[in-house]
Amino acid sequence: MRESSSLEKILVLDFGAQYAHLICRRVREMGVYAELVPFDISPKEIRQRKARGLILSGGPRSVYDKRAPLPSKEIYDLGLPVLGICYGLQALVYQNGGKVVRSNNREYGKASLSIVDKQNTLFQGISDPTLCWMSHGDAAEKLPPGFSSIATSDNSPYAAIASGNMYAVQFHPEVTHTLEGNRILSNFVFDICQCERNWSTESMIEDAISELQSKIGPSDRVLCALSGGVDSSTTAALLEKAIGKRLYCVFVDNGLLREGERQQVENLFRPRLGKNLIVVDDSRKFLSKLKGVKDPEKKRKIVGREFIQSFERISRKLGKITWLAQGTLYTDIVESAKSGATKDAQSKIKSHHNVGGLPGIMGFKLIEPLKDLYKDEVRKVARTLGLPSSLILSHPFPGPGLAVRVIGEVTREKLRIARKASAIVEGELRMAGLYEKLWQAYASVGDDEATGVKGDSREVGRVVIVRVVESIDAMTADWTRLPYEILERISNRITNEVLGVTWVTYAVSSKPPSTIEPQ
Ligand code: XMP
Repeated sequence: MRESSSLEKILVLDFGAQYAHLICRRVREMGVYAELVPFDISPKEIRQRKARGLILSGGPRSVYDKRAPLPSKEIYDLGLPVLGICYGLQALVYQNGGKVVRSNNREYGKASLSIVDKQNTLFQGISDPTLCWMSHGDAAEKLPPGFSSIATSDNSPYAAIASGNMYAVQFHPEVTHTLEGNRILSNFVFDICQCERNWSTESMIEDAISELQSKIGPSDRVLCALSGGVDSSTTAALLEKAIGKRLYCVFVDNGLLREGERQQVENLFRPRLGKNLIVVDDSRKFLSKLKGVKDPEKKRKIVGREFIQSFERISRKLGKITWLAQGTLYTDIVESAKSGATKDAQSKIKSHHNVGGLPGIMGFKLIEPLKDLYKDEVRKVARTLGLPSSLILSHPFPGPGLAVRVIGEVTREKLRIARKASAIVEGELRMAGLYEKLWQAYASVGDDEATGVKGDSREVGRVVIVRVVESIDAMTADWTRLPYEILERISNRITNEVLGVTWVTYAVSSKPPSTIEPQ
């Protein structure tokens, strides 16, 4: 989502802090467009972009490091209001003739902030003292000429400083632990930078569309893989608005989908795309490759590989495709960039899901119109674009689909059971008004069998496991304490309506030690 020149905007110079993007998000939530830009952006570009103010983000380095990121000194002479945050304060102090030292009193966590200059616009309406969130090793020791301290904490005489329209704070106003952080940012944005509130979901969409139009050449064709989820659907809906019939969407039915999923995608996109929606039924191919495979990691790899092959085949047939569109979100990029076993695993998951690797293989150029947005922002865009709530609020569904909900070998019979039983679980939770409060809810099935009585005869059937979890970000999850009556209804309906099931069990393990999907 790039600038439209009429839009008032704040540029956030990125010095590498994990919170840098959060600053943009906070400003955007206030109705003002903010964009994260490289720390070494040229003063000329800042002028061209018609920025109303600059925020210097935090960062992990020390200003004295050899490879310390420092902005051009000229940014301080542009006459624009500047707000330095954490490392941003240190860079501002260092570049304007003050002194920064490695502090003996490192501050991490909550600190009490005492306001020295109560008249200062930055602290308008802020309580004194107030709680702020600190996370720094270095600190300013001597202020640049003309600057004075406007707030202190126990360990920082210079917790906030100012001179003219330059401000800097050692704490992080963008995190929620800083109680009045939003007010401080809004004082900067509205009262100091004098921005107007003109950034909304509608303007976000207009901007995204005009950016897509200027990026994609007038005769270029774009391919987008639809998964049925909100991210790829929103990407496709935006592109359809931007380039109409030059968008081709592919939906691969891999035989591992939820009940009604293929129909839902067709209902939604056929009227928009006509024959440019290509639905291929490759379920036989996927299921034959999965035959005899029990190992979950192998299943995931097979599904990923087969997907790429299906996709390649279709795009070759279409020919003359320049761009591949993906519904990558800001959080996907952050997840992939982090290291560590879980994060690596997650980025692999995402790369399957988002057909990563394809652009390289096929020489496509990549287009990711949602890459600056968080999930809830994408949901707002989706709603404004008229996508249905059932899609916008649907639970996450893994790329390898039911293959990871079937324990052991993937067979048509087990897929049928997992699919039908999951639809019952979801349906009952929707009826009870609980669905949208939960992270995920489904039924899985393995090879275990148990004896049941149906009518007058004994019958051996499958054991179905119902899993319903709550979670904020899928990194941890807790099983949901569902009311017994709902569990009872789910159990009765599954044994009555899904042929071949005799027992229903409820998973009462949290993550960790269990995971959300059984395989
Ligand atoms: P776990 O099972 O690791 O799942 O607790 C965390 C979240 O990720 C989803 N998930 C996947 N998504 N491909 C995906 O695209 C996968 O292979 C995969 N495995 C798990 C899971 O549904 C949950 O939301």
